[in-house]
Amino acid sequence: MEKFIINGPTRPVEGSLNVSGAKNSCLPLMAASVLFKKKVTLKNVPFVKDVFTMIALLKSLGAKVDISEKMRTMTITNKKKHKLIVPYRLVSTMRAGVLTMGSLLGRYQKKKIKVALGGGCALGIRDTSWHLEGFKKLGAKNTLKQGYVNLFAKNGLVGSEYKFPKVTVTGTENLIMASIFVKGFHILKNISIEPEVLDLINFLNKSGAKIKFVSKRTIKIEGINELIYGRHEIIGDRIEAFSYLCVAAITKGEIMLRKINPKFLAKELNILRRIGLVIKLKKNSVYLKYRKKLKNIRIKTGAFPDFATDNMPMLLAVLTTAKGKSIIEETIFSNRFMCCHELERMGAVIKINNNKAIIYGQKELSAANCISSDLRTTFSIILGAISARGVSEIQRVYHGLRGYYNIVEKLKSLGVKIRSQK
Ligand code: EPU
Repeated sequence: MEKFIINGPTRPVEGSLNVSGAKNSCLPLMAASVLFKKKVTLKNVPFVKDVFTMIALLKSLGAKVDISEKMRTMTITNKKKHKLIVPYRLVSTMRAGVLTMGSLLGRYQKKKIKVALGGGCALGIRDTSWHLEGFKKLGAKNTLKQGYVNLFAKNGLVGSEYKFPKVTVTGTENLIMASIFVKGFHILKNISIEPEVLDLINFLNKSGAKIKFVSKRTIKIEGINELIYGRHEIIGDRIEAFSYLCVAAITKGEIMLRKINPKFLAKELNILRRIGLVIKLKKNSVYLKYRKKLKNIRIKTGAFPDFATDNMPMLLAVLTTAKGKSIIEETIFSNRFMCCHELERMGAVIKINNNKAIIYGQKELSAANCISSDLRTTFSIILGAISARGVSEIQRVYHGLRGYYNIVEKLKSLGVKIRSQK
């Protein structure tokens, strides 16, 4: 099994990187390809493990998928019909597999659809009950048998209204896809407005869909007859971008990130400024420079435009060597502090109190062997190992490879002494 070996502490990094396309944009866009009669072309594709799993899933449904990793492009060509079953082996490692519920239901409303309930990171409850409630409002019944959700709308999907009890990202994406060919209008309230959801809306609207914002978190979808061709360039990955900003912060270095819209990181950049980092922005780039000992802070995660839960484990790692006591409150997932046990093995001092982590900044960390347990935890541990004195070995890094493109090469290009051993 692949592991990373990191020799720390890394000298202050100095360099620049192109941010990859957003995984959490790419996966729903790929799922949405099911809605199209002919071809969907995607540019700026991040060829991470989850994307390859989604390619296998689309192929199992009958689509032809051509890729060019060099050009970062993907073309999905649909046959006349898709198979209507998504097997467990293709969704067991990837949460985004559930997104095919919305696109298959949207396209094949009166047929029986079977989608295995999936996996993804073990961050706490990964429920789909609001997705299913939302489908019901459109007229689709569901049953759950042997781990598969069976969906079926006897009379087709008819527009009405659904309000999400709380913001859900894939829930919003699923309901948007299911509503594209609805009879009449469908209204969705309290939707997620994460940049990745807006990217899906832009893509669908460009291709002929009729989705309109009527207020900040409410959209009105007018059913159309068909989608034929789609073409789209995926937005930059705000979580990858923040991860590398943290590399510069923890090594007391500087970094220039290109191909990222700073608006996607407004809250995060504000926090980095408040702990003492210098940030300069251009339309599509972010520059960060360390200036003085980092300060403590108190933050809370939340749905966009708040601080992203996915960026929290990396900020937490940075705060392990900041001044004083910092407090992070996690409001989205119940099990998102897995990085703490591993960082503590490197000498970090962290107290967990329900959904709060209290971090007591230390002078420095020391190397330790660690095991990663989810995607963002992998990067958080990497940050710890980069700043720790000595050689750290990180196991189960396959979690990280699910979502970070060329992670070893990118870190090496910044001067991090990292190697991968299989
Ligand atoms: N929730 C329910 N019932 C539902 C749906 C959601 O209770 O039917 C709850 C969840 O338990 C959670 C909260 O709502 O407490 C928000 O979860 P959400 O549905 O928004 O999460 P998700 O759609 O499963 C996506 C990202 C995650 C990211 C979260 C939050 C994708 C493929 N995944 O997950 O990304 O953490 O939104 O922003 O887009 C990652 O990339 O590392 C990752 C985990």
